[in-house]
Amino acid sequence: MAQAEIDLSPEIQELGIEQYARELDSNGLTIVPPEVNQFGLERIDRIVEIILERAEAMTGSKFTLDDGPLDELEFPRPELTPEQMKQIEARGLTDALLKPTQFLIQKLTQVDRIFRDLAVNPVSVALQNHMMAGQTRLSSANCFVKWQGDFGYGPGLGLHADQGRTPLPWGPVAHTGNSTWCLTDYTLDGGALAYVPGTHTEGKPAPPPERVKDAIPAEAPKGSVIVWHGATWHGAFPRKDKGLRLGLAIYHRHEATLPQEDVPGQTTEAMAADSDNPEVYRVLAGLNDKFPYRETQSETVPRVKTSVAAG
Ligand SMILES: [Fe+2]
Repeated sequence: MAQAEIDLSPEIQELGIEQYARELDSNGLTIVPPEVNQFGLERIDRIVEIILERAEAMTGSKFTLDDGPLDELEFPRPELTPEQMKQIEARGLTDALLKPTQFLIQKLTQVDRIFRDLAVNPVSVALQNHMMAGQTRLSSANCFVKWQGDFGYGPGLGLHADQGRTPLPWGPVAHTGNSTWCLTDYTLDGGALAYVPGTHTEGKPAPPPERVKDAIPAEAPKGSVIVWHGATWHGAFPRKDKGLRLGLAIYHRHEATLPQEDVPGQTTEAMAADSDNPEVYRVLAGLNDKFPYRETQSETVPRVKTSVAAG
C-alpha cells in the first residue's frame, strides 16, 4: 500500500512543523523536541510530581525518578485455570504477571487541568489532525510508569499496531494516533519505545517474527513528544537502567473510531473551559459530535396536527 501525499494544513505551516508532518508521512513516527512543541519543561516537572504522588497513592509504595518503586510490588493474583497458567509459563510471561515492572495510571484528563493542557498542545493536535484528515479526537490519557526489568515483552518487544481492532484493509488516514510525552529521557538502556520505521504503510496489525530485528529505539530528551500513526509497529525495549521511565500517552482516535475511555460522556463543559484552549478541547473530547447520542430521542418527532395556522 503506497502512502498518499497528504496536504499540509494551515496549522502545520503556521507552527513551522512541516518537517515533522512529512516525517510522519514517510516514517510513521516523529519526535518533536521541547523547544519546538513549547509545552514547557516547568509544566513537565509539575506533571512528574503529580504522577509520582499518584503512583504512591495507588500502590502504597513511594517512587523516585532515580530508584523507581522503593518497595517490592506485586499484581493481585489473577484467577486463572491451571491450563491458562501453563500457557502463560510457556510464553515466558510469568514474571510479567507476578513481578511487575510497569503499570498504567489512567484517566488523567479527569485528574488535573495540566493533562488537558497537554492534550490541546497545538503541535501535537496539528500532527494528529494531519494523520486523521482533520478529524482527530481524544481516546485516552494514561501514564506508563516503568522501571528496571523486562515486563515480559521478551525478544518480540511487544511489537504491534495500535489500530489493530479496526478491520483491514487500512488506508493512509489513521484510525488512531499516539502523542506520547517523555516525562523522563528516552534512551535504549532506559527502556525506550521501540518501533519499525515506515511500517504504517504495511497495513498489518503486527509484524512477522523476522521483522523484529528492524525495530529501533525512539530516543528523545525529556519534554519531547513522540507522535506515531496507529498502523506503525511499536513496542518497548526493556529498561536496563535503575530508576523510572515515565511516558504520558495522549492517545487519539479518528472521529469514527471508538475511544478507549468514555471521553465524550465524562467530559463536562467546565472541564473543557478549564484548559488552555476550551474550543479545541471541546472538539477533541467530542462534545460537539452528533454521535454517540445520549438522549432517548435525538432527532425531532412529528406530532398529529392539532390546529390550522391562523389566517
Ligand atoms: Fe501500543
